[in-house]
Amino acid sequence: MSGDGPELLEAEDLSKSFGGLRAVDRLSFAVVEGEILGLLGPNGSGKTTVFNLIAGALPADRGRVRFSGRDITREPPSFRTRLGIARTFQLVRPLPNLTALDNVLVARLYGRGRSTALRTARDESLDLLSLFGLSQKATTSAHALTLAERKRLEIARALAARPQLLLLDEPLGGLTTTEVSAALAQFRRIQAEGITLVIVEHNVHAVRSLCDRVIVLNSGRLIAEGRPAEVLSRSEVIEVYLGKASRAALQ
Ligand SMILES: Nc1ncnc2c1ncn2[C@@H]1O[C@H](COP(=O)(O)OP(=O)(O)OP(=O)(O)O)[C@@H](O)[C@H]1O
Ligand SMILES: [Mg+2]
Repeated sequence: MSGDGPELLEAEDLSKSFGGLRAVDRLSFAVVEGEILGLLGPNGSGKTTVFNLIAGALPADRGRVRFSGRDITREPPSFRTRLGIARTFQLVRPLPNLTALDNVLVARLYGRGRSTALRTARDESLDLLSLFGLSQKATTSAHALTLAERKRLEIARALAARPQLLLLDEPLGGLTTTEVSAALAQFRRIQAEGITLVIVEHNVHAVRSLCDRVIVLNSGRLIAEGRPAEVLSRSEVIEVYLGKASRAALQ
């Protein structure tokens, strides 16, 4: 899956500056329905800002975002959530004083195709917790969960909104090898459900095994696009994305 199939999301000529800093610089790319797209680039290259522009957390200075063919550039985040865009945060931020169940329930009540009956929403939320191995933690406050549990809760929350497109911002950071394997299997299951994924991730092995296609940013600009193994072997990508010191990590 690399460029074929209908485009679910299109970013066209997107730019965002913070003061004099161009975080995203005339960026154009598409996300194909059903794929797992890796969004790569060194620290500070604009990846999280791209997610903020897609999810509507930040307004674009120029350019457009289209979702399912519809121009959503000026739409607020809540509207984008209802259209089917969900995201997780690099620094996980479930509502700390709510239980795991209530965190998912809130998302279930306000997302796309939201349940009107509280009881149905509660049952569906419990099912999601179970899917993420959190059944035993349903009544635990989010702040009392481990990092791995909070990361799983974030994804359960995002899925509770029944997205078509799920944006994952460094979902594997801080996880053990075993937890990473479990998370990758989970992402593949999410894809098999028909959900399109965009993933920001520094774990090269995970990117290689998971992503159908990757795009690489440097200073907010697109510098490469293609299959992960091929793109990650390009010398210009290795230079900017990993830096000379990390070259060995790719070999
Ligand atoms: N709200 C903000 N205000 C000011 N500068 C910002 C803001 N958000 C991001 N930046 C700056 O914009 C640039 C891109 O940041 P961004 O967080 O998008 O990068 P990133 O690729 O996600 O980096 P990382 O891999 O470290 O998460 C950085 O120089 C960052 O300091
Ligand atoms: Mg980031």
